[in-house]
Amino acid sequence: MNYELVIEGGQPLHGSVKIKGAKNAGLPIIAASLLMDEPAVIEEVPDLMDVKTMLAVIKALGAEVNYNSQAEMIATNAINLQSAEPPEDLMRKMRASFLVLGPLLARFGHARLSLPGGCAIGTRPVDLHLKGLEAMGVEFSYASGLIEGKTSRLQGASVYLDYPSVGATENLIMAATLAKGSTTIENAASEPEIVDLAGFLNSAGARISGAGTKRIRITGVAQLGGTRYAVIPDRIEAGTFLLSAAVTGSEITVKNVLSDHLKPLLAKMRETGVEIDETDLSAIRIKGSKEKKCVDLKTQPYPGFPTDLQPQFMTLLALSGGSGFVTETVFENRFRHVDGLVRMGADIKVEGSRAVVQGVGKLSGAPVEASDLRGAAALVLAALTAEGITRITGLEHLRRGYSGFEERLRSLGASIKLESNAQLRREIASGE
Ligand code: EPZ
Repeated sequence: MNYELVIEGGQPLHGSVKIKGAKNAGLPIIAASLLMDEPAVIEEVPDLMDVKTMLAVIKALGAEVNYNSQAEMIATNAINLQSAEPPEDLMRKMRASFLVLGPLLARFGHARLSLPGGCAIGTRPVDLHLKGLEAMGVEFSYASGLIEGKTSRLQGASVYLDYPSVGATENLIMAATLAKGSTTIENAASEPEIVDLAGFLNSAGARISGAGTKRIRITGVAQLGGTRYAVIPDRIEAGTFLLSAAVTGSEITVKNVLSDHLKPLLAKMRETGVEIDETDLSAIRIKGSKEKKCVDLKTQPYPGFPTDLQPQFMTLLALSGGSGFVTETVFENRFRHVDGLVRMGADIKVEGSRAVVQGVGKLSGAPVEASDLRGAAALVLAALTAEGITRITGLEHLRRGYSGFEERLRSLGASIKLESNAQLRREIASGE
């Protein structure tokens, strides 16, 4: 059964929304639970498709998994891992499943898994993951789309990352926790989700320092114990809701945030004329403005402006009264949301890694299709403020990273509902 979101634009938003745990911290932390000989409890893990996929991967390897999606709590026990070869169909569903590589090499000295395919936003190679693990003594071989890694024992090493890759940093941290000796990762990614992964591992007895900086040091230990750990709030989900107020010119409060993680977004939003009040340490009050000033935007690794909020921010720029450049430096094809925005009346021209946005002040509803997670969010934001009705398909992308998104937007006052295509055909047939 296919569904689509039907959104009637123009409703002002009001009230408050509570941010859930971070998808991009929860996924590596679930993978890291494979390193532990004792039970781990992970709290604040939202009910997302990607979370379910990662849990299916570790379960297929032999981990015991109990997920209470209502309580957003996972109990795992990886003491009896049986396999180092996760099922190919699961691996192909989600790139982040490649994060089991480091833990499997650390536990078994062996792993065989399918190389993550590219996706809508780019080819997304894993060469930096492999180069770092080779420096730690792993030998890789390839056959029919599968990669196999072998090592008698992971050795600590000094690794320099040509690019501060989030996934490569995470795989190397996890491999190094049980390696012999110490590992240094130079030019490491410094995203808050890396700090959260290190916090989780250290709470179970790992010895990791420098997470959040460009230089991370890990001293290998013999084994990890169990732990209970709560995942940080999702800065990208928080940014998406903040931008929903900016695009609709509404005033809302976003709760359960770590505003430190949102500095690049808040600075950019203020430049467009949005009023932001951060007086409460864990909540942000935002007042969008009718007049939106257009600004230039350039995505960078943390602490630069996050690529995962570029599509949503572009929607705000499309509604502004001026023109600006959006430069995407992290992924080579992250402008797929432009088609949908242009269908809704936006004036955006893509030239390679740069998009020129000519603000048009107002958008109009249209049927559009999402092609990736954050692009889907950008189209929802546009629909909230567009004149008329917008129908959005490709919702499987939205389900991967936003839990209860339409219900939470509806609780803020949005006119948004889910319709099955069958229901839609009946409406059209009856001329409703
Ligand atoms: C993580 O992806 C996030 N996913 C992404 O969020 C996020 O956009 C990205 O980091 C950047 O912040 C998760 O955490 C599950 P990278 P990841 O390795 O680890 C190139 C979302 O919407 N690269 O930092 O895959 C790569 O091609 C998702 O929640 C190599 O060339 O990101 C890309 O151009 C989308 N070789 C760039 O680096 C490598 O070995 C950034 O990739 C690895 C990466």
